[in-house]
Amino acid sequence: MTVQQSSLRRSARSLRARQDVIVGLDIGTTKVCVLVAAPDERSNALTVLGVGTAENAGLARGIVVNIEKTVRAIEEAVEQAEAASGVAVSDVVVGIAGDHVQSFQSRNAIAISGFEREITAGDLERLLDDARTIALPSDRTIVHLFPQDYILDGQDGINDPIGMSGVRLEANVHIVTAARTAIDNLERCVERAGLHAADIVLQPVASSLAVLDSAEREVGVALIDIGGGTTDIAIFDEGVLRHTAMFAIAGNKVTDDIKKGLGIVHAQAEQIKIAYGHALQESILDDEVFMIPGINGRKPIEVSKSLLCQIIQPRMEEIFEFAFAEIRRSGYARELSAGIVLTGGCAQLRGAAELAERIFGMPVKVGVPSVGLDGGFAPEVQSPIYATAVGLVLFASQSQQRRSDMFGMSYRHMQRRQHRSRLGYRTVIERIKHFFEHL
Ligand SMILES: Nc1ncnc2c1ncn2[C@@H]1O[C@H](COP(=O)(O)OP(=O)(O)OP(=O)(O)O)[C@@H](O)[C@H]1O
Ligand SMILES: [Mg+2]
Repeated sequence: MTVQQSSLRRSARSLRARQDVIVGLDIGTTKVCVLVAAPDERSNALTVLGVGTAENAGLARGIVVNIEKTVRAIEEAVEQAEAASGVAVSDVVVGIAGDHVQSFQSRNAIAISGFEREITAGDLERLLDDARTIALPSDRTIVHLFPQDYILDGQDGINDPIGMSGVRLEANVHIVTAARTAIDNLERCVERAGLHAADIVLQPVASSLAVLDSAEREVGVALIDIGGGTTDIAIFDEGVLRHTAMFAIAGNKVTDDIKKGLGIVHAQAEQIKIAYGHALQESILDDEVFMIPGINGRKPIEVSKSLLCQIIQPRMEEIFEFAFAEIRRSGYARELSAGIVLTGGCAQLRGAAELAERIFGMPVKVGVPSVGLDGGFAPEVQSPIYATAVGLVLFASQSQQRRSDMFGMSYRHMQRRQHRSRLGYRTVIERIKHFFEHL
């Protein structure tokens, strides 16, 4: 279906176009979720107007591997969300993940000009522009820039330098990059579904906005979003995003292990994982035995919860150990006073938080999106599987209002500045040409 056909089909229904709505589009490995929300001036929260979800078979390990299937899932989820909200969806904020995403720290510096040498918000943007122009391989692009702390004339540890004066301002910046093809394919799917990607946001950054509160971010916390295809990590300390990481071992691997271990099909494995699965032997209270129908006339298989757990537990341990290695690598393992928050579909597995507590040796809780939402559909999204979709609308709403500079510079913000600086460059050349032409 072409973009035009797709938007014609949608405009055929009686939907209202609303300028103030914010739409989050979470394209996950197992499902696509569309969340339509609008700011409510009285409560200062976002009202959830509608939600749509559709199964997705177009992604593997967090990246698009089949455009047709992904587009179909997006369209189905959009249709549901439009029918629930009565609002036409066009601009969406999209999440990105996958093990092609990488992050590193950089140190950047600018000179402060002006008579007073007072630091302004414009100077901080210039500093991020300096980080933005870092040399990268041609197949990679920057998705986010997160300023960490500032150094003014050699004095370090400054969180907010605006209003201070000095001549040389430096910053430590956390840079998140992604494979250009992964972003291009994501944008292609969004466009082919008749939508426009207003911004692209790292999935764990979005999830963290939905499930963490500012106190947790202040004292130090690691968010681990275990979905179907990827496990995504975001570490905060002193209110600032310090580290991001992701790897492609998550719920689908657990399901695959059950499928192979018991010789059953994927759908059966998924079903019994959700109905009877445990991540920790000790969390099984009654060791119930259940039957799985045999495939193509074979005898039914008898399985106990503890046998199922023997398959699930090693894989969950592997996921938590990988996550712990990433947290240690970040250098923040000892700074996490608020411990670990688990979210994503796999956080719902029985015993997952207890197993994680043993491995991390820190307090672990399951995070559900509960921050800043109200309205009729708000209770519907209070599940870890909606953390990313909720976070995407929160990201868009908070960065629109520039309520926090925690967000640094986003993908589109960077593109707009790049475009402007290119235009600026052209006009200087044009001005010089004009000068010589008129001599
Ligand atoms: N109640 C449950 N118990 C155990 N596992 C569950 C439960 N509910 C969902 N899951 C698992 O969570 C995973 C899906 O989680 P989620 O919806 O967060 O993934 P996704 O966003 O589609 O994928 P990703 O973010 O990795 O691209 C699946 O592996 C599913 O089996
Ligand atoms: Mg997800």
